Amino acid sequence: MASLAVKATRVSMFQRSLILSHRPLNRTLTTRATSYTLNTGAKIPALGFGTFQDADSQEETVSRALQKGMRLIDTARVYDVEEQVGKGIKKSGIPREEIFLGTKLWCNDYHPGDVERALDDSLRDLDTPYVDLLLMHYPCTFKRGPERFPRDADGRMIHGKTSFVDTWKAMERLTNTGKVKAIGVSNFSQGEIQTLLNESSTAPAVHQMEVHPYLQQKGFNEWLKTNGIHVVQFSPLGNMNNFYRQTGWSKDVAHMMRVIDQPILKEIGEKYGKSAVQVVLSWGINSGRSVIPKSVVDWQIEQNLEADFELQPEDMARIATLDAKARFNDPSLDYEWRLYSDLEGIEGTMRGKTH
Ligand SMILES: NC(=O)c1ccc[n+]([C@@H]2O[C@H](COP(=O)([O-])OP(=O)(O)OC[C@H]3O[C@@H](n4cnc5c(N)ncnc54)[C@H](OP(=O)(O)O)[C@@H]3O)[C@@H](O)[C@H]2O)c1
Repeated sequence: MASLAVKATRVSMFQRSLILSHRPLNRTLTTRATSYTLNTGAKIPALGFGTFQDADSQEETVSRALQKGMRLIDTARVYDVEEQVGKGIKKSGIPREEIFLGTKLWCNDYHPGDVERALDDSLRDLDTPYVDLLLMHYPCTFKRGPERFPRDADGRMIHGKTSFVDTWKAMERLTNTGKVKAIGVSNFSQGEIQTLLNESSTAPAVHQMEVHPYLQQKGFNEWLKTNGIHVVQFSPLGNMNNFYRQTGWSKDVAHMMRVIDQPILKEIGEKYGKSAVQVVLSWGINSGRSVIPKSVVDWQIEQNLEADFELQPEDMARIATLDAKARFNDPSLDYEWRLYSDLEGIEGTMRGKTH
């Protein structure tokens, strides 16, 4: 064994390139497998997998993504894919304890009397005894009941009577059941998170929010770091997902060039032998955040798995110049709740122009 180890350190450049070309795609020499420690002490991988949309493909893609090396799976009750995700996990053959699995409560289940039952529904569909992370999907509470989007006769969303603080306290209690390892939030403003810090005894382990080179949210990201709250970037590729244009949520910024077509990102990619997509994801990871790109296409998943590599400070600085404070996912008007009220990129909905 010792002589083998010595030999391994003496491989020539030629041999090294042969090794590289024969290594599985998810394990090349330049690719890291970064993970972070949450304020609970648990580890969360830097690179993860989103499951919003394409329900029919999710069982297969989750299974294949896990087999290829993904270890963080993000889902949500409202995506209607938890059953497929659960089957995909089983099919993959990867032991449950090697996977970081997160799901999200939906807004009609925010009444403290509903939270544990809602989690149990998710656990049943995911076919798992616990989730590693349970997030509140949005800060707004919808009317209690089976309707996910309860609306009045004029089509306006009907809100519930309890607040996100009441929901949070019910989530806190779940951490003692063994069914939830950590709790967090998504789509909160800084003020809303500050309210949770003031009025409860548990700081969120994670804030999942929209972050990409067009919406960098530097000040807010710094504040979250200072408060020990780990950021998971959703829509890490920016305006790649047509859904936000189709719903009208990003009308004001829909004209923008796709983030991944930005010449700066392509140039940086050439330097490292990586694609613009990989540069975008690695920018998030090199900033200390997790990223959860969604894809149902094998070569894209493989490419995304190769996105954890070191970017030089000068390249991080170049990417910083792309910040346009452009938010693509903002259902404020539809949800009758001023989302992201103290954050960047809300000009569209502020002026009511996104619908
Ligand atoms: N908390 C929240 O409110 C919230 C909101 C939005 C999203 N999320 C989470 O974040 C995940 C990702 O967000 P997202 O879907 O909005 O945006 P995204 O992951 O930034 O973009 C997804 C789009 O990029 C494409 N894509 C992925 N990898 C690619 C690659 N290597 N090359 C080219 N195209 C690639 C996908 O194509 P294909 O699918 O065709 O492969 C898909 O059209 C979601 O699945 C969900 O889990 C959470």
